[in-house]
Amino acid sequence: MQHFENWEYDINDPSLVSVCDELPLWSAPFGLKLLDTIEYRPDMNVLDIGCGTGFPLLELAGRLGRSCRVYGIDPWKTAVERIRLKLKVWKIQNVEVIHGVAERMPFDDRFFHLIVSNNGINNVDDPEEVLSECFRVARPGCQLVVTVNLPDTMIEFYNMYEETLQKLGKTKEVAKMNEHISARRKPLDATKKMLIDAGFELINVVEDSFKMKFLDGSALMQHPSIKLAFLEPWKGILQENDVEEVFGHLVDRLNSYANAKGELSLTVPLACIDSRKK
Ligand SMILES: C[S@@+](CC[C@H](N)C(=O)[O-])C[C@H]1O[C@@H](n2cnc3c(N)ncnc32)[C@H](O)[C@@H]1O
Repeated sequence: MQHFENWEYDINDPSLVSVCDELPLWSAPFGLKLLDTIEYRPDMNVLDIGCGTGFPLLELAGRLGRSCRVYGIDPWKTAVERIRLKLKVWKIQNVEVIHGVAERMPFDDRFFHLIVSNNGINNVDDPEEVLSECFRVARPGCQLVVTVNLPDTMIEFYNMYEETLQKLGKTKEVAKMNEHISARRKPLDATKKMLIDAGFELINVVEDSFKMKFLDGSALMQHPSIKLAFLEPWKGILQENDVEEVFGHLVDRLNSYANAKGELSLTVPLACIDSRKK
């Protein structure tokens, strides 16, 4: 069985966050769709929900220029501080970033002309509450563009995780794995319904997918972006003292698959949803 290096990064460590990419490669395929979908107009108040280390917040501020004011909100304090440093060093004047949650936003009613969220609203605790807040702070006609990843994200990985759990007799954990998937990766129709229920009119939905290719399971588990953003929820499916055994077997399985196929290719289906406040 493979030895599994059971450690992860501390996302609250400022030196770690200072070297995180503003636009992780993972976020880029979503972000390019989002940047193509928004309407570029002058004099807008713009909101980015779940701006992470600064995307698309800072890119939008640059693309829209100084007639527009761009606001970001995220509860990840260290990332918010990193954005503030970048604003100072780059002398960016049209951005404000708020440390907080989008379920409760410190903005007046009908303030924003454009609201975006790149893989953000699917990662909040209460998406219905966030969309209700979006409706409150949106002006009539406000464009809301969100990108989300879909339930079959990395299906190849999850199939092998499930097979590993079944083989080790961990059926409760299979149920937990399915809960983990449905908590963060809602079917597209469910996200569309949430937007409509919150009062937004759907204008267009673009679906696409991309592949993340790795040499094998060992490389996957050691990749910094995977360690940073994925490993903790994957491990959270298990009892702490089962992690090394289950992940050892899982890496074996992923490696055999990669060996047979010549690579470990994980599919990421996504959607970019364009909507308006009526
Ligand atoms: C997948 S990351 C996306 C970050 C960035 N937009 C990007 O494209 O790379 C999701 C972000 O949502 C943030 N988030 C989680 N809960 C939130 C909430 N309740 N309100 C606002 N943002 C939240 C996380 O801290 C994280 O930065």
